[in-house]
Amino acid sequence: MENIFNPIKSRFKEPLIKNMCEYNELMDKFKGDYEGTWASFADEKIDWFKKYDTILDESNAPFYKWFTGGQMNVAHQCVDRHLDTKKNKAAIIFEGDNGDQQILTYRELAYEVNKTANMFKNKFDVKKGDRVVVYMPMIPEAAVVMLACAKIGAIHSIVFGGFSAEALRDRIIDAEAKLVVTADGAFRKGKPYMLKPVVDKALEEGCECVSKVCIVERNGEDIEWVAGRDYSYNELVKTESSVCAAEPMDSEDPLFLLYTSGSTGKPKGVQHSSAGYILWAQMTMEWVFDIQDNDTYWCTADIGWITGHTYIVYGPLAAGATTVMFEGVPTFPDAGRCWRMVEEYKINQFYTAPTAIRLLHKTGAHEPSKYDLSSLRILGTVGEPIDPPAWKWYYEEVGGSQCSIVDTYWQTETGGHMISPLPAATPIKPACATFPLPGIMAEIIEEDGTPVEIGEKGFMCVTKPWPSMIRTIWNDGERFKKSYFGDCKKDGQPVYFTGDGAMMSEDGYITITGRTDDVINVSGHRMGTAEVEAAVKKHDNVASVAVVGKPHEIKGEGIFAYVVLKSVPSNHNDQTADEFEVMKEINNIIKTEIGAIALCDDIAFVPDLPKTRSGKIMRRILRSIVKGEAITQDTSTLEDPSIVGKIEEIVNR
Ligand code: WTA
Repeated sequence: MENIFNPIKSRFKEPLIKNMCEYNELMDKFKGDYEGTWASFADEKIDWFKKYDTILDESNAPFYKWFTGGQMNVAHQCVDRHLDTKKNKAAIIFEGDNGDQQILTYRELAYEVNKTANMFKNKFDVKKGDRVVVYMPMIPEAAVVMLACAKIGAIHSIVFGGFSAEALRDRIIDAEAKLVVTADGAFRKGKPYMLKPVVDKALEEGCECVSKVCIVERNGEDIEWVAGRDYSYNELVKTESSVCAAEPMDSEDPLFLLYTSGSTGKPKGVQHSSAGYILWAQMTMEWVFDIQDNDTYWCTADIGWITGHTYIVYGPLAAGATTVMFEGVPTFPDAGRCWRMVEEYKINQFYTAPTAIRLLHKTGAHEPSKYDLSSLRILGTVGEPIDPPAWKWYYEEVGGSQCSIVDTYWQTETGGHMISPLPAATPIKPACATFPLPGIMAEIIEEDGTPVEIGEKGFMCVTKPWPSMIRTIWNDGERFKKSYFGDCKKDGQPVYFTGDGAMMSEDGYITITGRTDDVINVSGHRMGTAEVEAAVKKHDNVASVAVVGKPHEIKGEGIFAYVVLKSVPSNHNDQTADEFEVMKEINNIIKTEIGAIALCDDIAFVPDLPKTRSGKIMRRILRSIVKGEAITQDTSTLEDPSIVGKIEEIVNR
């Protein structure tokens, strides 16, 4: 008998969706009048400058448009419109790696956003529609920069601070950015680290589009200044006015780009809209996190990922909440860091990735009991499947068996949560994303749209467009169509395919079974095997390579590479030492090309890869070998069927 945990209502006061009846009613309302129901939320939640004419424009599917004809501004929605009622409420609570604290009230946030927006316009000539690349640490200025872009209609493209100069350069060039905003560096585990030198390196070639770099001071370390290109944020912002009118933005004007990995090729610039995106960010904040006026909410993600965009900055602020921003890492100075912060700030919602939960479980299983965590009401997880032991520890030790766990399933492309429990309503099953949120028509189907049988794996699709969905891939509409609307159909029409597999139980619970494509999920971060392979191939002695995910105790998945060398080290007595050397060189290349997050955990040097006669690499066989699973695929079609045994032997050595 499966465990089912009913929501514990004692810590909830006024949840928006109180029970499954209300959930079903709302879902039925959407089913009965899909567009009308979305419109009623758009009317209620968004402070429109000009009301829209059309709710959903499907005339150029799959380039869907929502709320066209309407005008609004996301920074106004997140900051200015709260000033009447929440002026002195904390908008952002910042805690530095070293324990520094800083609080920005909504009034102070408005002041900083306006000054920064004016600085962008006056000192950097940033105009509506220009792209601004942001390469910043987790400091309040990062949120200010995002909102300042939104205020004047510039499109930000944040690049995670762990990406290398090469990766940063690719993204700058693809977005044709005009300005790069960065910081000297920041602090991590008690020590300063640097970002500005990475920007310098990225700009060395091919980035003619960038004329200026704006640098926020954080760690005070020495950096080089390029005259005429580099400017100090702290200096320039001082003299700007704190009054700035919000640029009226069309609903469909892009708010930001965020690059993410696909199964093939280079990372793609996922483009999000203004009105539809912020509407769903706010609604999910209210539904899934039950955000109430006195709550203090903390999401541990980095702003370099979609979780940081939607659930540190845009969602919480649109909902008028208090959001915590943390510069450090959960295990520094010790494994009690998060719990100490929960106690200190009286956190009500805590949102993190299964990787962090596994790490904290492993390094400090009993740490939570040392702190008063009774303020917690909701615990969230995101980014990868959570395994039952980690779930249990989170539920019992962190939540004291008194909190709801929301296992939120979504993607960079979906803008916000898609499948998740509602904390006061949904009876939860450990490690299960449960049900689609109201308004989300998620279905598990075969490629032709047939619903799969109960308990069978199928494709996780969304069969109707929703407001916060990806609008296109920057500069590549064809790739957008092919990547998301090329695989599955329903009633003959292409539908959005997530790239994930899923299963449904008899009682309708959805469990995500993971990617069906060549994307791996390392510590909740998406990594394309093609990108890692392209980096490995840059090594002079690599003839061919195939990268797959390998189950990893903490990271969920680690990166495993099968490498065929051009010349096998001749000295067989010392083969392992030679291979070790090559492995180090390969990882150095990956670090330069992508960043440390994509390092290979393990490399197997093999005589060849399992290829069909037409030259296609049979990755499924390679995945099975690394998992130690029996090979069920037909190997007789391989060019050299004996290679499978040879590879198995090497991997299991
Ligand atoms: C995976 C992160 C299982 C999934 C918000 C998806 C999950 C990819 C869950 C998106 C979850 C995300 N359970 N798997 N609760 N949440 N995933 O774009 O494979 O960085 O396609 O967005 O993470 O990763 P992304």
